[in-house]
Amino acid sequence: MFTASEIRSTFLKFMESKGHTIVASSPVVPGDDPTLLFTNAGMNQFKDVYLGFDKRPYTRATTSQKCVRAGGKHNDLENVGYTARHHTFFEMLGNFSFGDYFKRDAIKNAWELLTEHFKLPPEKLWVTVYAEDDEAYNIWNKEVGIPADRIVRIGDNKGARFASDNFWMMGDTGPCGPCSEIFYDHGPSVAGGPPGSPDEDGDRYMEIWNLVFMQFNRDEKGVMHKLPRPSVDTGMGLERISAVLQGVHSNYEIDLFQNLMKAVIDEVKAAGAEDVDPNSPSVKVIADHIRACTFIIADGVVPGNEGRSYVLRRIARRGMRHGFKLGARKLFFSNLVKAVAKEMGDHYPEIHNPHIQEVLRQEEVRFSQTLSKGLDILNEALASGTKILGGDVAFKLHDTYGFPVDLTADVCREKNVSVDFEGFDALMEKQREQARAKGKFKMAQGLEYEGKPTEFLGYDTLTVQACRVEAIYKDGELVKDAEAGDEVVVVFDRTPFYAESGGQMGDKGTFKNKTTILKVDDTFKIKADVFGHMCYVAEGEVKVGDLFSAQVDEENREATARNHSVTHLMHKALREVLGAHVQQRGSMVNGDRTRFDFVHTSPMTREQINEVEDIVNKEILRNAPTQTRVMPIDEAKKTNAVMLFGEKYGEKVRVLNIGSSCELCGGTHVQRTGDIGMFKIISESGISAG
Ligand code: ALA
Repeated sequence: MFTASEIRSTFLKFMESKGHTIVASSPVVPGDDPTLLFTNAGMNQFKDVYLGFDKRPYTRATTSQKCVRAGGKHNDLENVGYTARHHTFFEMLGNFSFGDYFKRDAIKNAWELLTEHFKLPPEKLWVTVYAEDDEAYNIWNKEVGIPADRIVRIGDNKGARFASDNFWMMGDTGPCGPCSEIFYDHGPSVAGGPPGSPDEDGDRYMEIWNLVFMQFNRDEKGVMHKLPRPSVDTGMGLERISAVLQGVHSNYEIDLFQNLMKAVIDEVKAAGAEDVDPNSPSVKVIADHIRACTFIIADGVVPGNEGRSYVLRRIARRGMRHGFKLGARKLFFSNLVKAVAKEMGDHYPEIHNPHIQEVLRQEEVRFSQTLSKGLDILNEALASGTKILGGDVAFKLHDTYGFPVDLTADVCREKNVSVDFEGFDALMEKQREQARAKGKFKMAQGLEYEGKPTEFLGYDTLTVQACRVEAIYKDGELVKDAEAGDEVVVVFDRTPFYAESGGQMGDKGTFKNKTTILKVDDTFKIKADVFGHMCYVAEGEVKVGDLFSAQVDEENREATARNHSVTHLMHKALREVLGAHVQQRGSMVNGDRTRFDFVHTSPMTREQINEVEDIVNKEILRNAPTQTRVMPIDEAKKTNAVMLFGEKYGEKVRVLNIGSSCELCGGTHVQRTGDIGMFKIISESGISAG
């Protein structure tokens, strides 16, 4: 029997023998690609190579890629544990051709590997092709010899765009093309019909390999542009092919998962569960989620309330909840990192890192506090011996304590108590209606605030005494207080902290008083003039009305100011060198660097990059003082200041002169250009055609 690990290495060696260079997996956190939350396919790291923006020393490559499909496009989170083949994390085996071979060799290589090396019986394999792709059809039928009754043409059902319709895209934009999929027939003992039939969703015919014939780049408007050269991108889920080769029907029955699931059962029992059904979906959920968490943290993400951090938190807490459901009452989840490292650390040495378990342990401690508070309340409500838990209690648990209602139901079920779901749903609906009726303005962060605006003092000072707490939010809900260990968003009446806007990231720092320390990780706008401070309560307690002294992290703010000011100089220099069509389309400025997005028809040449660097460095050497003027927008329009098209400006605006540049900007800046030090362009690349 092939182990999963042997299948991985057999695949890579086979492709190497066919002229492919073995390339390491890229991190699950994609490098410089704002269109992607997590790496979701092997081709991600080669996106620019397909588009012709990047050249590699090889035209054929092969990888075993770490992928995460949870959050964003290709999101499988809620299915995990309840189907035979969904995962948040999985490995994708792939081979890639960058303008080298095309359909014929892609198909023939795949066939040779499956039938000659993996020894799959040809009559068990079915294939699909894109409806109009006669070329692929004929290769399968005439050259490989698959009879017509096992080749299915599948059309482009408008709207759906992913593999199911045989046209593959990594997201809304980027390289894409028609594909041909290979299926394995598990035989009549398993329910389900062949691809394209009404009962194709059954488990009998399992897709094992997707061959994508990359031909187009889809832009933001949905227009397809031809790629410089036809290419190939293939993907085969390691877990699925392992299931087939090990003669089992579910990915969770393969060697790798069986070992992990044993470890899950041991840990859950050690944490207090008496008896654990090895077939429980919860065991699968935990085994799946601990892999995702391990790999995501290994690549630098920590749990939090936004973006990737939030997805990580959801996966981790879903895993922890399922352990709780099985009866675990002590920490267990973070202990499982070691089991993952044992199974997979040979191929992915980055997961042998004690930091991973520690990060997860802290999250587990935090979540267990939420759970135990909720449980106390629940047990109190059940102490009366009632047989029905009121919808109001379930609602309060959910609303005030962040205690999930399905968990409430689980605990009640154990005690033969039912939950008044109708009452719960009615309260949820009432809450939604109230929010609508009041016409409260929900921002992206979903926080509601009706108090007065924040006074921002941070242009002139980095420390402010006696900032008063106006509002506190925990898990997105308004609360009156918070205690050590909590992560909360705090609004003060005034602050020196800059809130993220105009591409400049929010300030970090601390708020302190005699008893309490709040560590601020980020600052953002809840509304245009209301600042939310993302705080970790490091010591003591905080409640509405408390007074604090604020201290912005000076080093970070100064570094950010240098990077922001130099962005203005770069913007101006780019217009001089490339033309006045160069306009800021986005930017990201923090203490480490600045990234500036603009539209231009072709990549910059080395000479143009040098020229931009020279112009900016000359401005820095001149050491001119920065000038800030606040004036009515109409007056500002007469100053020739650069304004961003489509950007909304208030009545009054700040006009900023840095060196010879002049822009409207609310950011924080250096006092003289010389403060910047020096300027260097580290990289320049295209994120899509044009
Ligand atoms: N990129 C293709 C997929 O993910 C191979 O299915």
